[in-house]
Amino acid sequence: MIPQKILLKEEDIPKQWYNITPDLPHPLPPFIDPTTKEPGVGIVPQIFPKEIINQEISQERWITIPEEVREIYRIWRPTPLFRAIGLEKALKTPAKIYYKYEGVSPSGSHKTNSSVPQAYYNMKEGIERVTTETGAGQWGSALAFATAIFGIKATIYMVKASYEQKPYRKMLMNAYDAEVYASPSKQTAAGRKILQEDPENRGTLGIAISEAIEDSLESGKTGKKANYTIGSVFNHVCLHQTIEGLEAKKQLETVDDYPDAIYGCIGGGSSFSGLMWPFYYDKVTKKAAKETKLIAVEPTACPKVTRGEYTYDHGDTAKLTPLVPMYTLGHDFMPAPIHAGGLRYHGIAPTISVLAQEKQISTFAVNQVEAFDAAKIFIRSEGIIPSPESTHAIKAVIDEARKCKENNEPKTLLFILTGHGFFDMAAYGEYFNGNLQPYEYPTEKVDESMMKLQKLYPWLNDVRKKYINNKE
Ligand SMILES: Cc1ncc(COP(=O)(O)O)c(C=O)c1O
Repeated sequence: MIPQKILLKEEDIPKQWYNITPDLPHPLPPFIDPTTKEPGVGIVPQIFPKEIINQEISQERWITIPEEVREIYRIWRPTPLFRAIGLEKALKTPAKIYYKYEGVSPSGSHKTNSSVPQAYYNMKEGIERVTTETGAGQWGSALAFATAIFGIKATIYMVKASYEQKPYRKMLMNAYDAEVYASPSKQTAAGRKILQEDPENRGTLGIAISEAIEDSLESGKTGKKANYTIGSVFNHVCLHQTIEGLEAKKQLETVDDYPDAIYGCIGGGSSFSGLMWPFYYDKVTKKAAKETKLIAVEPTACPKVTRGEYTYDHGDTAKLTPLVPMYTLGHDFMPAPIHAGGLRYHGIAPTISVLAQEKQISTFAVNQVEAFDAAKIFIRSEGIIPSPESTHAIKAVIDEARKCKENNEPKTLLFILTGHGFFDMAAYGEYFNGNLQPYEYPTEKVDESMMKLQKLYPWLNDVRKKYINNKE
């Protein structure tokens, strides 16, 4: 009998995370401080605990997971690896399809893999409150859970469009005792400025990040210093997520299988990185059983890697962060109201950017209607309601499984199912009622933003040539 659920024991929870940075094809370009035009991390040391900064810049391949964090991971980890037998049958494909299911975490997604260590390190360093942004609400819920566990407070700036569309996400965060503001809010100067210019502004992740960072920076002046936490993009977040791939590798070993291709959706790139970094490690250390293809899938509504530019840009709208080397659509990106809220960020992890530049990973974009079409097949064959974000990966997997059928190729396909979609039923409702539109972000908009960025920093091309194109 083919096992449907491949499970590990609690003692199999990995003891170390894997850090890809020493194994990248070339070193990561540095952050740039726009005031000096030189490498510099700007506000970063003021908003993160020391241990997180150490992890961010670490060149160690393996980083120990604190026992206290493993204890909390035990609430839901190891997560199951499912063999998608129902989906394989529905597609009549000879492909073997596996998915690592992160929806079993307390808040319903992979985000807890990083919120728990982030809350832990802050607590250990005496911080009593942390701030953050959340788009769809998944990261906010995950942080609210983790801070509740470690007895610290969380202030969460939630993109106004989601705040209104997803009241239950807000209630979940409140249940964990977090305070939640619709962003742009009146709490911060960045929020007030945007509301003054546009009282109807529905928010973006870039704006919410500016608010959360400003709250952290200003907090020490009036009371106890609060730190900032982030749900994706940064190396330390991708590092924490590698628990997914490390477990998946062990799980596949037990059924004597190895993936031909690995798929994940990309918002900031943390869940995809978490699944594929450990397999990339096999490749660079020549331990891989196969030449595994690594495939990132993004929405056509927010196509930072397929249509954006690999350059330096701010991580937030108010330009508080240093300039980050990444594929970007521009920090002034205004997303269309698509339903995969977690994929609507203008930039992407610097590590993903290097891997895409070096063609170590491939990327393609699908629209939300295609993504929900794929979700429908998945729901009716596997029974799980996927988060709208991960439906993008499902679409790519289904396409490949169909090709396998045409060519009679029994490939092994692995993807990350980042969360469940129980809080996203309104989006499914719109899809099933035929109200969802495919949407493509116009190329002219990217050009416009890039021109604005160039005008803002006329020296940007020189810095880009020096650190990104030069690859040294
Ligand atoms: C359920 C879910 N999946 C995927 C993502 C995309 O983020 P990342 O690329 O960092 O995994 C998000 C982001 O909020 C999310 O909530």
